[in-house]
Amino acid sequence: MERWGEVDRYISDVFGLDDPVLDEAVRATEAAGMPQIQVSAVHGRLLQVLARTVNARRILEIGTLGGYSAIWLGRVLPLDGRLVTLELEPRHAEVARSNIDRAGLSDRVEVLVGPAVETLQRLVDDATEPFDLVFIDADKENYPSYLELSIKLAGPGTLIVADNVVRQGQVADPSNADPRVQGVRRFNELLAADARLTATVMQTVGAKSYDGLALAVVRDSK
Ligand code: SAH
Ligand code: DHB
Ligand code: MG
Repeated sequence: MERWGEVDRYISDVFGLDDPVLDEAVRATEAAGMPQIQVSAVHGRLLQVLARTVNARRILEIGTLGGYSAIWLGRVLPLDGRLVTLELEPRHAEVARSNIDRAGLSDRVEVLVGPAVETLQRLVDDATEPFDLVFIDADKENYPSYLELSIKLAGPGTLIVADNVVRQGQVADPSNADPRVQGVRRFNELLAADARLTATVMQTVGAKSYDGLALAVVRDSK
């Protein structure tokens, strides 16, 4: 476990991932008494690589916290690109907006406050232009709903990425009664069975211990 943190540190150093604006976003999130559950810098860079791979011009994020992953993603958007990030807690959204502003991304990044299932349904009802990349990282219980709504907001080639789908390996235990684990298990099963997707789960280790990312590309969202 300690080795994983050391190697994350090594990767951050080699790739120059330390950044004062991102560090300050983490500090401000911590100072506001919010949980320290943002993605690692190494995964922030991974999100950037994935966004570039699909030439993302429109990104949807579910779960903003202090805007840390939103800043990583927002930085690889083209100038006319857009990132919409959904957050339940008004206080989190406020801290995120301030961090996003400090990163110079307020013109491209929008934080929408409310329960994400409701916000997503509103985006669907408004016939929102499809997103090129969706990053799911909010409450694990709702991952199954987030998947279905994300597909409705996607088009052919959209990449859906979901954080925390392994949860220290708990996901492989069918008798685990934790509703978050059950939500993630159901999510993985839905991903696997959906003919509209080509999907997999990747196990990860690092500064945030042992977890995993789901990756799914939309073939046809209809
Ligand atoms: N993506 C962020 C971390 C998100 S943490 C990063 O890497 O920087 C998960 C966030 O989801 C928390 O801020 C939490 O308040 C929010 N959340 C929890 N339940 C939610 C819901 N029902 N709708 C929207 N956001 C929710
Ligand atoms: C938790 C949530 C996350 O999105 C994460 O990456 C790590 C932990 C949590 O709710 O504990
Ligand atoms: Mg997460």
